Amino acid sequence: MLQEYNPKNENIFIYVGGELLPRKKAKVSVFDSIVQNGDGVWEGLRVYPEGIVCYDKHLNRLQEGAHALAYEEIPTKEEIKKAIKETLDANGMNTDTHIRLTLTRGEKVTSGMDSRLNQSGCCLIVLAEWKKKVYDFSKGIKAISSSIRRSIPAFLDSKIHHNNMLSLVIAKIQANISGYDAAVMLDDRGFVAELNDTNLFLLKDGTVQTPYAHACLPGITRQTFIDLFKENKIPVEERDLTLVEFINADLVFATGTNGEITPVTEMDGREIKCNIKFLERIKNLFELKLPKLCEPL
Ligand SMILES: Cc1ncc(COP(=O)(O)O)c(C=O)c1O
Repeated sequence: MLQEYNPKNENIFIYVGGELLPRKKAKVSVFDSIVQNGDGVWEGLRVYPEGIVCYDKHLNRLQEGAHALAYEEIPTKEEIKKAIKETLDANGMNTDTHIRLTLTRGEKVTSGMDSRLNQSGCCLIVLAEWKKKVYDFSKGIKAISSSIRRSIPAFLDSKIHHNNMLSLVIAKIQANISGYDAAVMLDDRGFVAELNDTNLFLLKDGTVQTPYAHACLPGITRQTFIDLFKENKIPVEERDLTLVEFINADLVFATGTNGEITPVTEMDGREIKCNIKFLERIKNLFELKLPKLCEPL
């Protein structure tokens, strides 16, 4: 599924490094670390009339990633929230909106990878667009396993939501070429980590299971679902899971802020069962909880 271009986004204002600029003028410097080294952290946020889903958790992850990468002059939550509010207000957005929030290490005094060349603090980008959810719940998605492994902490810890995303991009290209919607990424040992853009769960014999967060992004929606299962006395566990276990599950679904919950109907050409009663139950539970997860701007 390809996200469509929405002409409503032609004249949006984008916040870049302290300024609100029209789309055509919104640019970062060629000296910015994101251009030089893919050196940035990001979040995808969804806006509803009630507010932004899990707002504080997203900002925490952004700030913690930036701290782990030793960024200097990381903006405070209040500063980030102010920039987001200004951007949404400038665009008249309060629903059906996706925000790509990026914090880069900032501009360098000359090209290079040495972080000592960064002498003017971080650069915050708030790109808010009118956007539908990424996947269609009623159709579900088909996934194919990629030859590219998801990074483990020995290389680059997947707990940092960073812009060094080429392994995910290549995996997605493999899925595109094969005519699939998404790529299943395994960890270094061959256990399933996640899809290239969402976390994975399976249901087997009444228990929900999801891979440990060793090699996947510990998604905020993933945690929301784990909490939801616990609150509703649905057995749930984190463990090492293989492709074979996913293929033979009673249901497989993907979770993420921008797709919420999406069934995975096929993996590597094998059809996966779909326990529709369970799927609809948990979708309803999630939708009931959603307004409570939204935090005001
Ligand atoms: C690789 C990857 N996995 C999972 C997710 C879902 O995470 P979240 O639920 O926090 O949106 C994302 C979202 O950006 C992602 O990039």
